[in-house]
Amino acid sequence: MSRLLDVRDLVIEFDTRHGRKRVVDGVSFHLERGEVLGILGESGSGKTMSTLAVLGLVGGRPGVVQGQVLFDEGAGPQDLLADLGRVVKPRGDRLVKNDRRWQRLVHRTMRPLWGRAMTAVFQNPRHSLDPLMTIGAQVEESVRLAQPELDRAGRAGRAVEWLARVQMNDPKRVHSSYAHELSGGMCQRAMIAVALARAPMLLIADEPTTGLDTTVRAEIVALFRELLADRRRSMLYISHDIREVLFLADRIIVMRHGKVVETVAVADLKAGVGERHPYTASLLAAADLAFEAAA
Ligand SMILES: Nc1ncnc2c1ncn2[C@@H]1O[C@H](COP(=O)(O)OP(=O)(O)OP(=O)(O)O)[C@@H](O)[C@H]1O
Ligand SMILES: [Mg+2]
Repeated sequence: MSRLLDVRDLVIEFDTRHGRKRVVDGVSFHLERGEVLGILGESGSGKTMSTLAVLGLVGGRPGVVQGQVLFDEGAGPQDLLADLGRVVKPRGDRLVKNDRRWQRLVHRTMRPLWGRAMTAVFQNPRHSLDPLMTIGAQVEESVRLAQPELDRAGRAGRAVEWLARVQMNDPKRVHSSYAHELSGGMCQRAMIAVALARAPMLLIADEPTTGLDTTVRAEIVALFRELLADRRRSMLYISHDIREVLFLADRIIVMRHGKVVETVAVADLKAGVGERHPYTASLLAAADLAFEAAA
């Protein structure tokens, strides 16, 4: 079977007060089935935009102007950007995009995939959860998508199981709680339950621990590792924290100024195999990490 995800030569541009700005400049990366790919890079390097492009969620104009996003649910790769060539045309020295037409095409392509085949966990889970629905109802909604054959009681039971799997102390109580009644760390656990109960093939986690305190961060990262250990799903994991990324990921890409400057397997990096890009080396040094090749 082919790769789950293959992003090729992705270009994202925005029109700003200072003219056209290319924020993602020919980015390529891929994700094998069951793999965790870590994405590192300084603020503004294009990490979020590159992954939002996979979800079809790049806002702003013109947005994605070039590239391929090959996603393979099992029946062969489908290019999620296949329609892009129909709405982006060169005009003079720049690319012009029919935004409204693009939005319609994105919706048609992505709607069958959103929430089911791919889903995302962002920072600030309190804002991602619905404040007016109990946590349980939100997890049950995910369970309904993944297991439509279950009846109401079955869904509720599964939801409580999911809340236990994300290590909530009192899953039954959390099931009937609202987001405002939970701590930040508990909200993030709930969000992870909502995301994973949908049984997605691809999970995109964009700085899911930012804003949580240190102990809770470590617990959430450990939780991701445990939940992904069976290799039944794949994850793109974005973080500023290189230790987090090295703990979770099988491979990393390092981004800078809209480009991928390095792709390396974490095992090779830790074994000191090959030369590091100077920017990767500076990230490692800043975190007091030194990996040297065995003599
Ligand atoms: N709608 C928009 N219009 C103009 N510029 C934008 C727009 N959205 C994002 N950008 C710019 O695109 C660049 C890449 O943004 P992106 O969010 O991908 O960075 P990032 O690597 O995720 O950074 P961070 O680590 O801070 O989250 C940034 O310079 C950002 O300011
Ligand atoms: Mg970001």
